[in-house]
Amino acid sequence: MSTILRRLPPSEATGLRTGARHSLAEVYRTADLVVLGLGVMIGAGIFSIAGQQAATTAGPGVILSFMIAGIACLLACLCYAELSSTMPASGSAYTFTYVIFGEVWAWIIGCALILELQLSAAVVARAWGAIAVGAISNFGVRVPAGDLVQDVLVFVILVLLTGVVTLGARVGLRALWVMVSAKLVAIGAVIVVGLAHIDPVNYGGFHVPSKPVDTPSVTVLELFTGGGQAFGWLGIFTAASAIAFAYIGFDIVATSAEETVNAPRAVPKGMIRSLVIATVIYIAVALVMVGMAPYTTISVRAPLAGAFRAADVGWMVHVIDAGAVLGLTTVILVLIVGQTRVLFSMARDGLIPRGLATVSRRYHTPTRVTLVIGLVAIMLAEFVPVLTLQQLAVIGTLFAFAFVAAGVIVMRRRMPHLERGFQVPFSPLVPALSLAATFWLMVNLRVVTWVWFVLWMLFGLLVYLVYGRRHSLLAQPAVAPRPAAPQGRHRR
Ligand code: ALA
Repeated sequence: MSTILRRLPPSEATGLRTGARHSLAEVYRTADLVVLGLGVMIGAGIFSIAGQQAATTAGPGVILSFMIAGIACLLACLCYAELSSTMPASGSAYTFTYVIFGEVWAWIIGCALILELQLSAAVVARAWGAIAVGAISNFGVRVPAGDLVQDVLVFVILVLLTGVVTLGARVGLRALWVMVSAKLVAIGAVIVVGLAHIDPVNYGGFHVPSKPVDTPSVTVLELFTGGGQAFGWLGIFTAASAIAFAYIGFDIVATSAEETVNAPRAVPKGMIRSLVIATVIYIAVALVMVGMAPYTTISVRAPLAGAFRAADVGWMVHVIDAGAVLGLTTVILVLIVGQTRVLFSMARDGLIPRGLATVSRRYHTPTRVTLVIGLVAIMLAEFVPVLTLQQLAVIGTLFAFAFVAAGVIVMRRRMPHLERGFQVPFSPLVPALSLAATFWLMVNLRVVTWVWFVLWMLFGLLVYLVYGRRHSLLAQPAVAPRPAAPQGRHRR
């Protein structure tokens, strides 16, 4: 077998053979995973992007966009559930791909996941900064013009959350339960109070005639169907792809598998339950948002708050502000956790420097890699216009979805006897549908997003050829057992 297609044995991915790979503490149970999933999913997608997409791309059809993206993600989630119940390892799609398709593909998926998680953390941190500034000024405090206050707030939140992740999953978990509960109360208030102000006329048949848009917004599909359009059916599909950002995160639950008690059963349950709850919440919020006012009046900057202000329910603005600030905080927190686990796995396999897989004996967390991630997130959020790169995070996510769906089909044939805590129903039909739905969302992303994605992947491939291929543990002379991830200096 070609070296770049060498595969990680499944026993090694799950640590059954060496036992040494499992160096993270087991802290999560099913309910924690549901909270983790809701913590990372409900954020900028519903608080900001949904309104932007309704105002600029889909009109009231944004409700259908949420349904389309939700169905695609549910199909992908079932595939993730099967693979993570078979290989409960912290690398998630990266590790699955390593076992099923081989090293170079695993590396490529690793690059896609880095794009998803690292970029999303920066995007959401920036959105958090804007929301926090808005919340402060909604309280009547005058915020100086310019970006300085926002820049400082973004810096502070990223430093704080990186610190929390460094201190350990337990610290983060307690904070997460409290913050997720608070954001659910805020979202519940949006739905309940908003229902009383819906005017069905605003739904207008969920469909708005299409209008031409600028060239940079053209999607891949529109290249073939003749020019860029907003609204209409194509607009609804384009919005569905952008809105997939709101669903980013259920896959991160799978990266917690190594830290989960009875992972083969708990991870599928946690993932599926959190996704179903989030989907219902999203559709309900979208129904309220576009039902309260004509889509042409939706504020792109503060869609939900704007709708309640227009309906003369001013106090809800503070509820939404509080929910959004807490909500986006938990999103950033879990994204950083997910990113640490993926990089930790890649470092443990030797594809990036192994020192990054060092687990602190004191905190039981991969502290070094966490600090690197926090630093990169700060640089991206402070110096790059990340809010324009949100679709790039989506394409990274969808790319991983495609490999996971294909992986279920291949794994069933190649390793039919592996123990599966969860099985995708009607396989290979459901994984095939997942592949098709993922592909459909991908072709509805903008051409410019694809160009950046391909460039990032080519860069990643170069790094693999120069470094990972040689330093991979699988490239080292066989020693049994393979060395465990290095341990930190702190002893218990
Ligand atoms: N799903 C997360 C959000 O919407 C990334 O903020």
